Amino acid sequence: ERADHFPAVVVGSGYGAAVAALRLGEAGIRTLVVEMGRLWDTPGSDGRVHCSMTAPDQRSMWFKSRTEAPLSTFLWLDVINKDITPYPGVLDRVRFPGMSVYVGRGVGGGSLVNGGIAVTPSRAYFQQMLPQVAADPMYDTYFPLANRMLGATTVPSAWFEATEWYTYARVARAQAARAGLKTVLMPNVYDFGYMRREADGTATKSALAQEVIYGNNFGKRSLDKTYLASALGTGQVTLHTLSRVRSLRRAPDGGYVLTVERIDTTGTVVSTDEITCGSLFLGAGSLGTTELLLRARETGALPELSEEVGRGWGGNGNVMLGRANHVWHPTGAQQSTIPVLAIDDWSDTANPVFAEIAPLPAGLETWVSLYLAITRNPERATFTYDAAKDTTVLDWTRAQSAPSVAAAKALFDRVNSANATIYRYDLFGDTRAFADDFCYHPLGGCVLGRATDAYGRVTGYDGLYVTDGSLIPGSIGVNPFVTITALAERTMARVLAEDRVGGR
Ligand code: FDA
Repeated sequence: ERADHFPAVVVGSGYGAAVAALRLGEAGIRTLVVEMGRLWDTPGSDGRVHCSMTAPDQRSMWFKSRTEAPLSTFLWLDVINKDITPYPGVLDRVRFPGMSVYVGRGVGGGSLVNGGIAVTPSRAYFQQMLPQVAADPMYDTYFPLANRMLGATTVPSAWFEATEWYTYARVARAQAARAGLKTVLMPNVYDFGYMRREADGTATKSALAQEVIYGNNFGKRSLDKTYLASALGTGQVTLHTLSRVRSLRRAPDGGYVLTVERIDTTGTVVSTDEITCGSLFLGAGSLGTTELLLRARETGALPELSEEVGRGWGGNGNVMLGRANHVWHPTGAQQSTIPVLAIDDWSDTANPVFAEIAPLPAGLETWVSLYLAITRNPERATFTYDAAKDTTVLDWTRAQSAPSVAAAKALFDRVNSANATIYRYDLFGDTRAFADDFCYHPLGGCVLGRATDAYGRVTGYDGLYVTDGSLIPGSIGVNPFVTITALAERTMARVLAEDRVGGR
């Protein structure tokens, strides 16, 4: 056995990648997982693996010299972001001209930095977005499987109603109700038993200690604790970290050759290696997978790739906003970072909005209600390859965010008028009420059924698969990781049953 050959390689270690790794390992196929970020298992000098949002250090962000939190100012003051030493930290903000995309970096991908919200999309909207996927097996088999494997549960309602840590959510619920809007509890992968012990003072605080976008030290069932732990447990899966795949090409025997750059914690490339494999599963996320395929097509390495590679990108209609409450409606100095409640107005066919009620865990009373709204934005963007810089560029324009803002504004104008409240204009670095220039939910670039077949098999190339968020055409109406996981389960079941994976 050669050290540089694996029957299967998985690029990335987020949702799509983690599902692929586990199912390949279970099938007895020797698999290498290649992840550009760190493995987050070693405490720093403060005894913690991850830093908090209120005291960020080098562990917070991917090679930045200053943190770039989405909510960047308070009372227009630059008090949120801090100077840091460049380091392979856990959260990246990738800046394109009209849109910034936040992504997780490390073993577990987005699961390390996200809010753990685990929502299954409405069946009608799923069918509208992915008509080529039969809904019955998804809703009977793959969504339940994904939710079980991810460890999604719902906060016990009696505790939710009583705890000071969710005052902010209950205040926002009452204000939504005054506007005639319905709220729903959202399942989450955070361990609510652990959260209750945090509140009781019998467990080290994590969600109750301002930890989330730079990682949670406890409580969150991120992929390194679920799918990836099981994948490594098969004994078939090997992990290479701080290893960034630069390019792909076909091997003479029909497999694939990957060029992989290994970096150290200063970002210096310490070696460039070639790894070969029989089957290649791309789970580098909407940005990562699309970039690898575009580069391969445009440099002529994989010239048969579809013209559809690079198309169909959207940010799931994300827009963030804050509302200012009256002084007699405090939202609480104590806020759990794990969102559990949403305004669900997706059934409004003219103006569907699913707005997660987000924490503002400042450690002091702010009277702010913060929301991440998911809207139905029909605009899509395309990635192009810049040969001179050897990178990809996303052509999303600021004007394309207008439908998202209009939808959020229509809903929250109602909330404001029913409660005689106003927006906050001080939170996003200038005087905007709506932050429409970043997203947490990048989707598309290698859309299912267009750049691939109906199961993620890449058109034109046997043994090449996509399993991540790049398959979803720009919008899914809810937080996306349950859908990404369920689609990956469906792909792996089909591919392992029908294809000669790993050159078997
Ligand atoms: P994902 O992005 O998870 O993983 C890709 C991995 O590939 C990364 O680890 C990356 O480092 C690696 N990679 C990329 N290019 C590579 C290369 N060339 N070589 C090697 N490795 C490479 N969703 C949700 O459902 N509920 C929620 O509560 C939230 N909240 C949330 C908060 C924040 C702050 C963010 C940034 C995102 C969310 N999300 C979310 C979104 C969710 O995290 C996201 O949709 C998924 O992580 C996407 O899963 P993928 O499998 O597509 O890739």
